[in-house]
Amino acid sequence: MRALVIGGSGQIGGWLLHVLRERGHTATGTFQKVPYPGLAPLDAANLDQAAALVRAERPDVVFYPAGFTWVDGCERDPALARAANLEQPMNVARAAAALGAKFVYFSTDYVFDGVNGPYDESSPTNPLSAYGRAKLDAEHALENELGDNQLTLRTSWVFGPERQGKNFAYQLVKALRNSKTVECPVDQISSPSYGPDVALAAVRLFELGRSGLLHVVGPEIIDRKSFAEAIARAFELPTDEIIGKRTSELAQGAPRPLNGGLLANKLDSLLPGVMRPLSDSLADFVRITRESSDWAVPGQ
Ligand SMILES: NC(=O)c1ccc[n+]([C@@H]2O[C@H](COP(=O)([O-])OP(=O)(O)OC[C@H]3O[C@@H](n4cnc5c(N)ncnc54)[C@H](OP(=O)(O)O)[C@@H]3O)[C@@H](O)[C@H]2O)c1
Repeated sequence: MRALVIGGSGQIGGWLLHVLRERGHTATGTFQKVPYPGLAPLDAANLDQAAALVRAERPDVVFYPAGFTWVDGCERDPALARAANLEQPMNVARAAAALGAKFVYFSTDYVFDGVNGPYDESSPTNPLSAYGRAKLDAEHALENELGDNQLTLRTSWVFGPERQGKNFAYQLVKALRNSKTVECPVDQISSPSYGPDVALAAVRLFELGRSGLLHVVGPEIIDRKSFAEAIARAFELPTDEIIGKRTSELAQGAPRPLNGGLLANKLDSLLPGVMRPLSDSLADFVRITRESSDWAVPGQ
């Protein structure tokens, strides 16, 4: 199969390119601001250029692990949040559909309010933030306009090796290596999800011909402080500088779902074991960043 990955320079996008090629597919990726060898430049805000790229590549599938992913930034600029997370992916999705290609979108647990989590695919949504609202609107638009030609994967708290080295685990390890304290909410609960496994699940779901909405998350549902402590232990760092706080004490720009987390029973029945437990994922994360120069090393 021929795949196009919009956002190939990002965390999930980098792993999608890796997994696709490893599984024998032809894959092209794009970057917006952070170039890597072999990636094509694309700002999806340029709607004509984005649609033209899809037409030129003639892919069988377009993965879209891109958008404006900074939740507090989205709250400050809801118009940009909608443009980047709804309008730009819909433009690419329409171009893909016109070729008969499948479109794979990445959504979030932030479509829920965190009152009664964890949530499955049929749970009622109620986003609290501009980011969550834009993502949910994109889910609905994709379902309405593309039907079975789209696959929407909700994930959460994605961590693991990445080239840009900017996910939560990297920030945490860097701070702890520099003996800085890190404040973590004890009352935000969700599902840590290992990036390489999210990418593998996405590719395998496409290969299985799946469409519609699916949750793609790791098996544990834990609070952010416990997640941070698990990362620190994996990197052999002390945990005493990880300070637990209530969300109300942290002055985050956008409201967060508290009792969140996603249930992935559908995924488990389709691809049992594809999402490894947190301890195995962290061990793999440490191993890969020690052994491979393809990914950034936490703390450096
Ligand atoms: N990370 C999580 O915990 C998480 C949780 C739930 C859902 N998701 C969703 O999963 C997807 C991937 O997340 P991620 O963590 O892999 O994101 P990421 O590491 O921040 O990567 C985002 C990618 O999008 C590209 N991009 C940004 N603006 C663009 C634009 N205007 N045109 C074209 N490309 C653009 C970036 O390019 P440059 O870096 O080159 O600028 C980068 O390749 C996102 O849709 C996110 O909402 C993530």
